[in-house]
Amino acid sequence: MSNNNNNNNKELRSQKWFAPSGGGKGGFVHRKAWRKNQGLPADTYGKPVIGICNTWSELSPCNTHLRGLAESVKRGIIEAGGYPLEFPIMSTGETIIKPTAMLFRNLMSMDAEESIGSNPLDGVVLLTGCDKTTPATIMGAASVDIPTIVVPGGAMLNGRFRGENIGNGTYVWKLKEKIKTGEFTQKDVKDAEVCSARSEGHCTTMGTASSMACMAEALGLTLPGAAAIPAVDSRKKTMAQLSGRQIVEMVKSDLKISKILTRKAFENAIVVNAAIGGSTNFIIHLQAIAGRIGVALNLQDFDDLGSKIPLLVNLMPSGKYLMEEFYDAGGLPVVLNYMKDYLHNDTITVNGNTLGENNDDAICFRDDVIYKPSDPLQKEAGIAVLRGNLCENGAVIKPSAATESLLVHTGKAVVFENMTDFRNKIDDPNLDIDETSVMVLKSVGPVGFPGMPEVGNLDLPEKILKKGIKDMVRISDGRMSGTAFGTVILHVSPESAVGGNLALVENGDTIILDVPNRTLNMEISDEELQKRRDKWIAPESKAKRGYPNLFINTVQQAHLGADLDFLVGGSKDN
Ligand code: FES
Ligand code: MG
Repeated sequence: MSNNNNNNNKELRSQKWFAPSGGGKGGFVHRKAWRKNQGLPADTYGKPVIGICNTWSELSPCNTHLRGLAESVKRGIIEAGGYPLEFPIMSTGETIIKPTAMLFRNLMSMDAEESIGSNPLDGVVLLTGCDKTTPATIMGAASVDIPTIVVPGGAMLNGRFRGENIGNGTYVWKLKEKIKTGEFTQKDVKDAEVCSARSEGHCTTMGTASSMACMAEALGLTLPGAAAIPAVDSRKKTMAQLSGRQIVEMVKSDLKISKILTRKAFENAIVVNAAIGGSTNFIIHLQAIAGRIGVALNLQDFDDLGSKIPLLVNLMPSGKYLMEEFYDAGGLPVVLNYMKDYLHNDTITVNGNTLGENNDDAICFRDDVIYKPSDPLQKEAGIAVLRGNLCENGAVIKPSAATESLLVHTGKAVVFENMTDFRNKIDDPNLDIDETSVMVLKSVGPVGFPGMPEVGNLDLPEKILKKGIKDMVRISDGRMSGTAFGTVILHVSPESAVGGNLALVENGDTIILDVPNRTLNMEISDEELQKRRDKWIAPESKAKRGYPNLFINTVQQAHLGADLDFLVGGSKDN
């Protein structure tokens, strides 16, 4: 079968299935099976075959509208002369799936990789939404390396409660405090709950889902302006249809994902995540994606490239507004335009233009939502990477979400061996803790939990909250929700479950945090540390079989991106 749809005169990948050289039985079987049961005309088999990798699932509330949105993508693919094939993959509903969605990010990425790589697809559209669905699908696509475009599902409409904007996640943390201090009754909580989810879509704050959508756009994997369009806005459908048209063009010009995901693109994403006040989870996801495409990126890069970047976007949790206002203000193109002095503007994006070309005429419509770099919301907003004897391979903190006066702090450790220990002790009136203490939580790292849950922003003890104190230094090997805030040190590596020094901290140890100098240490002699190490017994594995067991045995530490070690890299066999 001839292939006259490809401007590059390169045989379409799908032709390996439908027209193996010399014809023969292989092509006959694949074509016949399709033609017979789908009623497709013969010329279908020369068109670019475009997969629509759909993370729609009723188990994933943030992604429920993607089933309908796929129709817009299909329309665009057909208009451009392609042949669309939609397929489902595993989807993780952040707030539903247990023990934590992060346990399944890598499994989802395997599903995406194998579904894309093992089928006759020339290009793929990734329909994503909730936190892990974006990085997981990009990781899978990167390992296959065919033309790829991301259609971000978009956030819900703003939550409104008693005249106030309520942001998903961010408000929940505040609610918990209000309940503990008696400011809110259970009825208040129920009323707030229904107001916080007004439409389909993902979390409305600059949490992980929104950060991932912005990451995809900053990397060049979406059409310009795609990240901030609300899920139920009619312009979301337009963007989906145009993305469908564009992926066919990408196949024709052989614009593979590896041509877009260059080191420069990753550097741009780091700068942008800082400027938008994005999630700390971004670090782990971006590193995992870089690992799949073979770009060298390490934890220190996030501090070197991001920590001095001004915060421009006034969205919760670092600021005041929500995604709907961000879109009204002009969305990510405004940030990309404002930040052009900090960015590589010559990176290629899915539409074949450079990032600079796409965004240099973006106009801001609301100065209170998107600030200018010359007069930012905050001067230095990115992620700080800490090192010291508590985190020899690094730990991270998001200073823009922390209390400035706590960024240099010395205090006595109050240790919680795991989440159960924490829950049992935290509101015990006899717990020896005050606002100067440093809360230390162990056993919530990638191996220890397993899956590294978002529990690092530990609730403060009731007796301290009642004094009106809202923040304390907290340290763990876990993550925190992108919607959360506080002086919270996360991703301590090596984690406690594999014998990192975090495992050896005891109640009363002096912990010294110095964010400006990027250090996190406990005051302890080498002899005492060794003594404790000699006595330390590794915790029993949390899973004996199945995927969690595979995860525990192969997951990399947080400072490397927590991918499974055997998934790093790609097949690139197409
Ligand atoms: Fe899905 Fe927040 S729960 S994005
Ligand atoms: Mg989240």
